[in-house]
Amino acid sequence: MRNSNRQWRLKRRPVGDVKAGDLELVDAPKPVPGKGEMLVRNVYLSLDPTNRIWMSDMEQYMPPVAIGDVMRGGTLGVVEQSNADGFAVGDIVIPGMGGWQDYSIGSASGPFPAQKLPKIPGVPLSTFMSALGFTGATAYFGLLDLGKPQAGETVVVSAAAGAVGQIVGQIAKIKGCRVVGLAGSDDKCRYVVKELGFDACINYRQGDLVSALKRECPKGIDVDFENAGGEILDAVLANINLKARIVVCGLISQYNATGPVPGPYNFANILMKRARVEGFIIIDYVPRFGEFAMQMAQWVMEGKVKDRVDIHDGLENAVTTLANLFTGGNTGKLLVRVSAEP
Ligand SMILES: NC(=O)c1ccc[n+]([C@@H]2O[C@H](COP(=O)([O-])OP(=O)(O)OC[C@H]3O[C@@H](n4cnc5c(N)ncnc54)[C@H](OP(=O)(O)O)[C@@H]3O)[C@@H](O)[C@H]2O)c1
Repeated sequence: MRNSNRQWRLKRRPVGDVKAGDLELVDAPKPVPGKGEMLVRNVYLSLDPTNRIWMSDMEQYMPPVAIGDVMRGGTLGVVEQSNADGFAVGDIVIPGMGGWQDYSIGSASGPFPAQKLPKIPGVPLSTFMSALGFTGATAYFGLLDLGKPQAGETVVVSAAAGAVGQIVGQIAKIKGCRVVGLAGSDDKCRYVVKELGFDACINYRQGDLVSALKRECPKGIDVDFENAGGEILDAVLANINLKARIVVCGLISQYNATGPVPGPYNFANILMKRARVEGFIIIDYVPRFGEFAMQMAQWVMEGKVKDRVDIHDGLENAVTTLANLFTGGNTGKLLVRVSAEP
């Protein structure tokens, strides 16, 4: 048990890739829970592409992390002290936005109330940060609410072997679609086809993507679950069907950009094909998480949805571990193990 609380604080806004020195690791006193609060020892820290957005002062969906503040991040942890009704020492919780630190204070109320996790036999804790957490919810609501996939349609998903992408493809298979992934290596493509059951996967770093999509999507693309943007989105737009749905989940190819990025060159196809482009942010769906959790837990327990987690040890390594999201170094959900599971 630690007596202090290591915290990653944002020191300056990164320019381009996040660099050593953009954040600093400081030792702070261990926090003390007040009335209605609990002290949580963080076990897993979620690393997400949106961390890069929060570090910037670009137009975004939440206030950016202020310079000097603890870096924002989702965590899962164990309650070590509780003054909150309904929470006991030893409970496993999502304490709200626990942040990049050893300990956080969870609260039973407020904008991000702590959530007690159930024990599901055979389901590892890390799954609550992956298929059964915000990641799975992003895949679920983005694909089903916005993409509206119909059996027999073709769904394309970029960053297919990543946290969200791996779940999207499996849900689309459950719905009876042809699923084509896009990923940055042959190993990742093998993973989503052989282990997750995607119909095909294209290594987008090799060859002409427009032709490869034409080959793997012989009936055209009905739903694009867009995680990447840039040239990938353009190649997809070149292959969309009438009334296609483009679900804009993320644009990771642009998060490190240092200047304006080009718009899609094939934008005209949205007009020609009467397509719909819609962005979404998962926090808007929090009121509907119950519906998602019931369905996803069932799929996970039945083995219909699998998730790989990519766990790196040590809070001190959080900044270097984050870089994997932008180099393609991760397969599955990227997590930092901050401390041991109870
Ligand atoms: N809208 C929402 O509420 C919401 C919620 C969660 C996530 N997201 C978005 O969903 C996307 C995926 O997030 P995630 O958490 O699941 O991350 P992830 O897919 O596990 O990791 C990111 C992956 O993106 C790929 N990538 C990195 N740079 C790229 C580039 N320049 N071009 C193409 N691909 C690139 C890499 O895979 P390869 O090796 O295959 O290139 C990397 O492994 C992100 O855009 C994220 O912002 C949105």
